[in-house]
Order: sequence, then C-alpha cells, then structure tokens
Amino acid sequence: MRAPTRKMTKLPVFLALASTFHSVLATPTSVKPSSDDENDTPLPVVIWHGLGDTFSAEGLQSVGSLVEKVNPGTLVYYVRLDESPSNDRTATFYGNVTEQLAKVCDDLAAHPILSTAPAIDAVGFSQGGQFLRGYVERCNYPPVRSLVTFGSQHNGIVDYKACSAADWLCKGAMALLHGNTWSSWLQSRLVPAQYFRDPQDLDSYLEHSNFLADINNERKEKNETYAKNIASLENFVMYLFDDDTTVIPKETGWFEEVNGTEVTPLRARPIYSEDWIGLKTLDRKGGLKFKTTPGEHMRLSDEVLEEAFTEFFGPYKGASKEVQVQDEL
Ligand SMILES: *[C@@H]1O[C@H](CO)[C@@H](O)[C@H](O)[C@H]1NC(C)=O
Ligand SMILES: *[C@@H]1O[C@H](CO)[C@@H](O)[C@H](O)[C@H]1NC(C)=O
Ligand SMILES: *[C@@H]1O[C@H](CO)[C@@H](O)[C@H](O)[C@H]1NC(C)=O
Repeated sequence: MRAPTRKMTKLPVFLALASTFHSVLATPTSVKPSSDDENDTPLPVVIWHGLGDTFSAEGLQSVGSLVEKVNPGTLVYYVRLDESPSNDRTATFYGNVTEQLAKVCDDLAAHPILSTAPAIDAVGFSQGGQFLRGYVERCNYPPVRSLVTFGSQHNGIVDYKACSAADWLCKGAMALLHGNTWSSWLQSRLVPAQYFRDPQDLDSYLEHSNFLADINNERKEKNETYAKNIASLENFVMYLFDDDTTVIPKETGWFEEVNGTEVTPLRARPIYSEDWIGLKTLDRKGGLKFKTTPGEHMRLSDEVLEEAFTEFFGPYKGASKEVQVQDEL
C-alpha cells in the first residue's frame, strides 16, 4: 500500500518536469544556459530489474530513492511487464523477450513525462541490462543518454546459478534451460534461453537465438540502426561483479568472449573491431566504460551506486552544448 501513496504525492513534481522538458524541446535555440536554471532538471531514470525480481521490490525501490537522493527531482520509472508484481516476476523467467521489449518500448513512448523528456538515463540490473541495450538498439524513443549495466549478460551465458533452494519457479526455468535450449518452443518462452550462448556451439545459437544473436548483430545481415543507436549514447557503462559466481561466465558483464579457458576482451573481438553494434564508435568518443565492483552478483553498495548516479546521471547538458556551438559560429 505504501508505494502508490508515495507516487501520488510525487505527481505534481512530475508534471512540473514535463512542462520543463516540453519548453526545452519546443524552443531549443532560445535556451540560454547561463540564465536558464531549468537546465538543472535531472533527466528521468528508467530502471529494469533482473531475473526473479519485481518492479515494486523494496531493494529496487531503494535504488530509486538513491537516484533521487543524488539528483533531487529525478523522475524514476521502474520497468514492468505487468502491474501485478507476481506476474512481473514470472515474466522475468517466461515470455518472448522480443515481445516483452516491444511492450516496454510502447510503455515508455506513451509515458506522458518520459516521452517529452529530451532524453532519459537508464540502469539495468543483470538481464535487465541487456534488455535495456536492446531498447536502445530497437526503439530508443525516448532516447537514452547514459546506459549503466550491473552484472549483465551482454555476451550471453552458458550457465546461471540463480535459484534459492525454495524457489521452484526459478528452478523450473533453469531445468528447462538445460533441456532443449534451441527449440522454438523454448526460445519463445524461456527468457534466459534467449540469451544463452555457447562459443563451442555457435552455429545453433546463430540459427535459433531469439534475442541475443539479433541485438548483438552476430548474423550475416547487420541492422545498421542498432549500431547507430548505440553510437549515439553518451555513455555505456558496464559494471562487472568481481566475485560473480551466479552468472557463468561473469566476464559477459564486460562483453568478453570466454571459450573454455580462453578470455578475449571486447576490444579484440570482431563485434568491436568491425563495429557491428556501434561500440567502437562510442569508444572513440570516450563513451565506453568498463568498471568493476567487489563482491558476488548483485551485491551492490550504496557507494558504488551513488558514484555511478553522480557521474553519469543528472541534468541534461545537451541543449547548452548546442547553444555554445551556435555562439561560436
Ligand atoms: C533494424 O531495426 C530497426 C529498429 O528495430 C527496425 O525498424 C528495422 O526494420 C530493422 N531493419 C532490418 C533490415 O531488419
Ligand atoms: C517472438 O516474438 C516475435 C514477435 O512476435 C516473433 O517474430 C518471433 O518469432 C517469436 N520468437 C519465437 C522463437 O517464436
Ligand atoms: C571455441 O573453441 C573451440 C575449440 O575448443 C572452437 O572450435 C570454436 O570455434 C571456438 N569458438 C569461438 C566462438 O571462437
């Protein structure tokens, strides 16, 4: 009962933000950074939770509170696939990720505040990270400025040790994952199967993967929009958990290839050197960041989160940059 009440009391602030963004969008050339303190309005932040979590979970909401503490006045939106927390949790295990992502794209594009903001920032936890990257590649309306991911599976997984003993939903999903991974039945229903990727059996992956092989542009035909959209980010920040034993291999958090004992860093891989998804272009302008955080998967300290929110989130500076360029001309 607490969460809706909290939302209601915040509503007037959200509406004030909406009109700010609207005026920035409508009259970009008249924005004068020195006299326009509306530029101090922080961009909205979209949070996508991980496997087995829900949008309304206490832990996730406390991350949102931290965002607001670091940048007061931030509108925080928690991605959900269903307004029922228990259905939202189920959807982290079961569903067609392409369809789930399309729904999230529709939700963000239809949101009265998010859709009028000049840009948004985004933070994805675990699988929520690669799904937000998919959002940037496939939709990006409203456009993302900084994408921050924690322990995400950008290069897929070969295993997941994510279930507590009593979690039958999770255990059922993991049993399925190790069954007929590449059947279209499973690829359209089991979420982790759609980012399963074994370098020893890349052909099956390339042929059948319903999500990851597509957003990583690993197939012969590349989608140029994907690369253009990633390159348009200001920052793509990947946090790796040093002692992650849940996600196998953990190096997937940095987009590395782990084949047996051989680890190939992102910058030595074709996906980077041939710029399949815009990472090289982004890197050249200084926007690709590799960071570590101590501990096991999703053991996050407030310090690390605050550091990220301070460095990458906050007010939108794009409009003032534009004005400066115009002044110089
Ligand atoms: C590439 O992706 C964009 C965004 O999802 C989509 O609109 C377009 O149809 C795709 N192009 C191809 C050739 O698949
Ligand atoms: C997942 O959904 C998309 C969009 O509806 C569809 O094109 C695709 O075939 C589905 N995937 C599978 C494996 O059925
Ligand atoms: C992984 O290593 C195996 C040999 O152990 C090799 O056949 C395969 O092509 C490698 N996969 C990739 C993606 O490099």
